[in-house]
Amino acid sequence: MSDSNRTIGVGRTALFVGASRGLGLGLVQQHLARGWKVIATVRKPSDALHALSAEAGDSLVIETLDMNEPAQLEALADRLGSTRLDLLFVNAGVAHDPSQTIGSVSDEQFFHILRTNTLSPMRVVERLEGLVPSPGTIAVMSSSLGSVAMNETGGYETYRASKAALDTLLRSVAARRKDSRRTFLAVDPGWVRTDMGGPGANLDVETSTSGVTGMLEARRGTPGVFFVTYANKELPW
Ligand SMILES: NC(=O)c1ccc[n+]([C@@H]2O[C@H](COP(=O)([O-])OP(=O)(O)OC[C@H]3O[C@@H](n4cnc5c(N)ncnc54)[C@H](OP(=O)(O)O)[C@@H]3O)[C@@H](O)[C@H]2O)c1
Repeated sequence: MSDSNRTIGVGRTALFVGASRGLGLGLVQQHLARGWKVIATVRKPSDALHALSAEAGDSLVIETLDMNEPAQLEALADRLGSTRLDLLFVNAGVAHDPSQTIGSVSDEQFFHILRTNTLSPMRVVERLEGLVPSPGTIAVMSSSLGSVAMNETGGYETYRASKAALDTLLRSVAARRKDSRRTFLAVDPGWVRTDMGGPGANLDVETSTSGVTGMLEARRGTPGVFFVTYANKELPW
């Protein structure tokens, strides 16, 4: 990383929801390395994230949030008070058995996936977006599988639907907030070797999250709503 990249985020604060492992943890590392102050949420203590604290000192604040527990979101909002966020990034999500079709998924599983990937992330956005002034960025972790236009193979049916609905709701918030001149992003991180992506994925966490971090920097200050990959390529919704 160049010296200018190491200081690019000095004076800026980011909040990452779902930072215990995988892509969320990688995004925290990338932003700390660029001088950001980072607030990172976990559901339960994460050894990997806590290990970063030793080096990061005051630059890393770890908070608790299970997105599916509204009382925890309220408590987090209270603790944040009027903290100014330059970046709010809701990364957390869950997957499911890719072969399960809409005809075979149980009601319980369907609702759990839609709740965790769609309703809860957008509740976080709705509750905390007031902390992000212009020209800040509000991002959610989507997936290329959430593209309605690109769905020509099927598979991951409930997951696809949850991310497509997430993207639609993000567009709705962005449309309501058109005058705010902030950047709204639905992010596709690529297929990445995490617990969710599995060992056969073609990207490592470092490649994906450094790409996402560079894309966020490149898009900062560009108002509107975009569906964009870790390589800063726009996708059809
Ligand atoms: N990996 C890929 O190839 C890929 C591709 C496209 C999109 N994505 C998306 O990228 C995001 C991160 O994926 P990943 O690969 O890093 O997955 P991961 O390794 O399975 O990590 C998922 C993260 O989400 C958190 N989480 C799950 N449910 C939560 C809840 N109710 N409240 C708060 N946090 C919760 C987990 O916390 P715990 O540790 O407490 O479970 C964990 O930090 C997801 O939105 C996923 O859909 C991933």
